[in-house]
Amino acid sequence: MAFIGIGQLLLFWMSTSRHVLGLRPDICAPALNVTHYEDGHVTPGYIFITPYEVTAFNDGPYIYTHSGELVWAGAVGNELVHNLHPCHIGGHEKLCRQLYTADGERDYIEIVGGKEPDLHELNVVNNGTAILTTWLITRPCDLSSVGGPENGYLMSVGFQEIDVETQTVNFMWDAADHVQIEESYIELTWKRWGNGISPETRWDFFHINSVDKSQSGDYLISSRHTRTIYMISGQNGTVLWRLGGKRSDFTFEPGLNFSSQHHARLQVEGNDNFTISLFDNGFDGEHQTALSSSGLVLHLDMQAMHASLVRRYITPDGILTSKEGSVQSLENGNVFIYWGGTPFLSEHTLDGSRVVFEARLTDPTGYWYRGWKANFTTAPTTSPGVYAVSESNSGRTTWFVSWNGATEVQGWRVYASQEEWNGYELIGYFEKNGFETTIGREDFYAWAIIEAVDGTGLSIRNSSAPISTSCQRSNRDAEQSVLDGLN
Ligand SMILES: *[C@@H]1O[C@H](CO)[C@@H](O)[C@H](O)[C@H]1NC(C)=O
Ligand SMILES: *[C@@H]1O[C@H](CO)[C@@H](O)[C@H](O)[C@H]1NC(C)=O
Ligand SMILES: *[C@@H]1O[C@H](CO)[C@@H](O)[C@H](O)[C@H]1NC(C)=O
Ligand SMILES: *[C@@H]1O[C@H](CO)[C@@H](O)[C@H](O)[C@H]1NC(C)=O
Ligand SMILES: *[C@@H]1O[C@H](CO)[C@@H](O)[C@H](O)[C@H]1NC(C)=O
Ligand SMILES: *[C@@H]1O[C@H](CO)[C@@H](O)[C@H](O)[C@H]1NC(C)=O
Ligand SMILES: *[C@@H]1O[C@H](CO)[C@@H](O)[C@H](O)[C@H]1NC(C)=O
Repeated sequence: MAFIGIGQLLLFWMSTSRHVLGLRPDICAPALNVTHYEDGHVTPGYIFITPYEVTAFNDGPYIYTHSGELVWAGAVGNELVHNLHPCHIGGHEKLCRQLYTADGERDYIEIVGGKEPDLHELNVVNNGTAILTTWLITRPCDLSSVGGPENGYLMSVGFQEIDVETQTVNFMWDAADHVQIEESYIELTWKRWGNGISPETRWDFFHINSVDKSQSGDYLISSRHTRTIYMISGQNGTVLWRLGGKRSDFTFEPGLNFSSQHHARLQVEGNDNFTISLFDNGFDGEHQTALSSSGLVLHLDMQAMHASLVRRYITPDGILTSKEGSVQSLENGNVFIYWGGTPFLSEHTLDGSRVVFEARLTDPTGYWYRGWKANFTTAPTTSPGVYAVSESNSGRTTWFVSWNGATEVQGWRVYASQEEWNGYELIGYFEKNGFETTIGREDFYAWAIIEAVDGTGLSIRNSSAPISTSCQRSNRDAEQSVLDGLN
């Protein structure tokens, strides 16, 4: 009684506000609920997110369209993945991501090289080197100057730049070599980040969470726990300047400050000035420096050593979040923000006057590290997935067609026949309609081949084998034809 089963499944999906994907049993993707959309002002492109701790769905990488339709469900079971985004390596566009456990070959690149890498940064620069943060290195350290033991322990963090192809480490930097522990705002008594007494409870004094590279080869890094953005010499690793924190080399415009910040990125590099963007959390769970978190764009005058506000981006409901977050300046000037620790994304006009897009994952418990928006083109290595059903072998035929991860499909051509290997005729062309397109015909067809067609009418890929139509009563056939289409 396959269809009773499927009916129950559909009901379950609807009741958990799942994407109603009909019949792909292997996909359990959360839906992106677009709650505000200003037509003509939202930047076209795809949204890349990697939710985890979602309750009803699989943790892992997902791609959605700018209007919130699922494009790719990349989760295999539950995986903790960060930093999913298109990147350029050796002149080719790849899909980059980081994860803790690699399992099997995929049609995207996983950056796994380097020493002690962690998931706080993956920034591919210079056409093929990747900047990764390094973590979890324990160092003995005299902590008496901050009220800790003389024979204490630090968690030292830093970053490295590696060649993606050869995995050679080109540059390595460790915070404990260049930054004084007194710069930290994290009290040893606040046990969450370690009390420094033992190697197991080493003190996380720095907490690096982003690294960018300047045109001159220096590195812009963000330390959450010193509330400072540093420029690090690419020649010798010394600190060239500090922005914010206890030892700031810059004065700040009155009322301007940030704390627990994430995702510092260089936007403009002039001769005597920089423009940078960052996500100001303004809150670390204990100490609050702003009413709400915000996306910030700052101008740094390198002569006067003065920081001023170019733009602040906030949401109408004033989200305050103590972790994660990202701010991305899009090519057309709009700004795309992920509100760390929440299931919430927004897009803003350059001048910050309008929010043109807001979306949240329907699973309210899910959150991720950074959100991305970008154009991206790919045809998966798999074939289109097709499920074909009919009430009886004389009745109406319905095909449910999808192709997980395909970006270029404009529509589907259906060729159908009563025999597996002969007599196929073109039934018609059907515009793609979301992640899964439902195509119905009054007549019964026992077999079909489905062809994915791009915007210029060219054939991209066919279903890997003829798809048989199952009658709804046959459980085995129904499952088999799903598998046929998905191999
Ligand atoms: C990137 O590297 C590839 C291969 O080495 C080269 O063909 C291409 O021109 C490079 N692109 C840029 C922008 O440097
Ligand atoms: C480190 O390199 C910077 C340039 O990035 C230079 O100004 C500085 O003098 C160097 N410091 C040392 C100790 O070599
Ligand atoms: C820090 O910035 C916030 C705005 O985000 C402001 O309300 C607050 O007064 C500032 N604090 C200081 C010390 O300037
Ligand atoms: C930043 O520096 C560039 C020169 O590199 C200059 O053209 C520009 O006017 C400067 N911007 C500001 C706001 O000072
Ligand atoms: C989407 O968001 C709107 C507005 O917050 C809400 O009314 C609706 O129930 C949400 N839909 C789903 C499927 O969660
Ligand atoms: C994607 O490409 C379109 C067309 O070139 C452009 O208007 C848009 O800004 C691009 N989107 C992103 C996120 O870069
Ligand atoms: C798909 O099948 C159709 C019909 O047989 C054929 O014209 C087309 O070339 C095939 N496409 C590919 C990519 O093999």
